[in-house]
Amino acid sequence: MKKTVLSGMRPTGILHLGNLYGALKNWINLEKENYNRFYFVADWHALTTGFDDAKDIPENTINMVIDWLAFGLSPEKNTLFVQSLVKEHAELFLLLSMITPVGWLERVPSYKDQIAQLGKVKTSNYGFLGYPVLMAADIIIYKAHYVPVGLDQVAHLEFTRELVRHFHALTKKEIFVEPQPLLTEVPKILGLDGRKMSKSYNNAIYLSDTEEETAKKIKIMFTDPRRKRRSDPGVAEECGVFMLHKIFSPKELQDEIKEACSKATIGCVDCKKKLTENLNNALRPIREKREDLINKKEYVKEILIEGSKRASKVASTTLEEVRDAIFSAKRLR
Ligand code: TRP
Ligand code: SF4
Repeated sequence: MKKTVLSGMRPTGILHLGNLYGALKNWINLEKENYNRFYFVADWHALTTGFDDAKDIPENTINMVIDWLAFGLSPEKNTLFVQSLVKEHAELFLLLSMITPVGWLERVPSYKDQIAQLGKVKTSNYGFLGYPVLMAADIIIYKAHYVPVGLDQVAHLEFTRELVRHFHALTKKEIFVEPQPLLTEVPKILGLDGRKMSKSYNNAIYLSDTEEETAKKIKIMFTDPRRKRRSDPGVAEECGVFMLHKIFSPKELQDEIKEACSKATIGCVDCKKKLTENLNNALRPIREKREDLINKKEYVKEILIEGSKRASKVASTTLEEVRDAIFSAKRLR
């Protein structure tokens, strides 16, 4: 039987190069495999820590999906949908919450990390504690085998598998699949300031940037700190500019730069000029497609509505099994 892959992204709005050449590239690569594929916008998850700025979520959803499509994710080969349009996720979340020990949730590493990061006030809500239960519901409702995610989500998948085993043990029914993370390699992409590229660090390059804005950003980008003067040799592998060359420039140029950087026979200004040209060339068709889709938001919404209907069919079939298992179980503890 055909296996299923599924992944989700919180609606952060427009995506930067790190998101695109990391997660999204992997989703597109999976189009070559013989899988059922589901990708969705986790808009309810955005509410778990962002109830106060929920008003941007619908627009961020559309803008993020525009970037998915512009970058080349196929709405035919994949089922693209929105979590909140498939109400079955909420029902499974509710049912799973009946059997989830609170202690398990308090032990999920991201729970403590996020409290430390965001503070007690923003994380004191019940839905925030239940984040992994909703995520488990998202995954197992489609009986997904593989979930392409970053390392930060591995603990959530571990939690999901544990919950699946717990459900099976309690109901004596084997309904779900224990999902495995798909940790495909992602290129390291640094932001303008040498830290990890991230929207919240304000150091990212976007599809929405014009070619001129992109050039300006690359101009101020951090390089290898060893190259204080033009005559100081550097190590390209440790330079954020070079990490982008590895994505956007041909192999010969990469080799040439690596060598020239180590001998200080190329200056960072020239190195950046070459990158700017190659990067803008590669992004040009993607940016054009994005511009086009911005004027076709109704079409994008239609894709998501259609995808959500398809997803709903699968999800509701699973839920019938789940209700049956729960309400026929002798005792649920
Ligand atoms: N928690 C994921 C993130 O922050 C988003 C997400 C929600 C997800 N539900 C999911 C990812 C199900 C994979 C599968 O990135
Ligand atoms: Fe980075 Fe290029 Fe400068 Fe080397 S020459 S430090 S790779 S920008």
